[in-house]
Amino acid sequence: MRRGSIASLIGIGIVAGGIAAAVALALPWLPTPASREAGRIDFEFWFVVTICIVIFAIVAAVILYSVIVFRAAPDDDSDGPPIHGHTGLEIAWTIVPLLLVTAIGISSAIVLSKNDALGKNVLHVDVTAQQFAWTFSYPEAHGLTSATLMLPKDRSVQLRFTSLDVIHSFWVPQFGQKQDVVPGLHTTLHITPDRLGTFPVICAALCGLGHATMRSTAIVMTPAAFDKWLASQSKAVTSPSAGQAGKAVFADNGCAACHTLSAAGATGKVGPDLDKLATYAKQAGQSLHAFIRASIVTPNAYVQPGYPKNVMPQTFGTSIPKPQLDALVDYLAANGTK
Ligand code: CUA
Repeated sequence: MRRGSIASLIGIGIVAGGIAAAVALALPWLPTPASREAGRIDFEFWFVVTICIVIFAIVAAVILYSVIVFRAAPDDDSDGPPIHGHTGLEIAWTIVPLLLVTAIGISSAIVLSKNDALGKNVLHVDVTAQQFAWTFSYPEAHGLTSATLMLPKDRSVQLRFTSLDVIHSFWVPQFGQKQDVVPGLHTTLHITPDRLGTFPVICAALCGLGHATMRSTAIVMTPAAFDKWLASQSKAVTSPSAGQAGKAVFADNGCAACHTLSAAGATGKVGPDLDKLATYAKQAGQSLHAFIRASIVTPNAYVQPGYPKNVMPQTFGTSIPKPQLDALVDYLAANGTK
């Protein structure tokens, strides 16, 4: 091979590789990681992308060079010289991909096993998925439930999933992993959040009409702020007489997304206006407390005229611990007086 052709090949390769690298780097393909696991996955992603760019540059260089230099002259119908086999080349194009694929396999296995390895002092969170809501429960805090996933930074967290109906899929893009939530199976996901912030919790499996609305929020807070939140919420669970308890339960279970309640600053319009609970109870011919409790525990038993059935989740009766439920009923009875 002439010196000039090697120089041209290298030149074309650098241009092609440069363009591919620019496309890879300039576009925001992945969100900024917010967990150690996502950081490792990002490393693996870029490891593979780098290999791909190098291979692309070599292939593009050889193709473009051949197209330009070995182009047949017009009206030249002659065959090229017959070539059969090139042992050295064949060994090279077998060994090189073998090494690359093995390297990707080994590094992926290391990332997966590191991502699955629980750290010390693991925080367990029981995640319940149902059409179309997420509920997060903290066994360490008397089963406190929340519609927002509160997490401390830099602590190993194991999410344990349960589905009450169909297959859902838990996904926080910044945490870098998806986990199917399957009825009858207990799946788990390990996360070590390493960036403070608020991130979307998305259902990534088509699970019914409300699939697109099955979203929540994950908030990563400092360990001190998390402990404070846990302590204040646990207090609400264990001594429900405290006036703030019901309000906390209302906020934690996402009621404000669908209901209006002035006392809680809630302006949802999907479900009945909770400011008017007293009027609704009278229409239903029930006492206020009994009406509120039944509407939460067995929502389809009586549905306020003008609102559809099957929209209010059927499962609050089992997902909210009794002290929290009592606090919520008291809170709603005290504030829904119109
Ligand atoms: Cu749950 Cu889609």
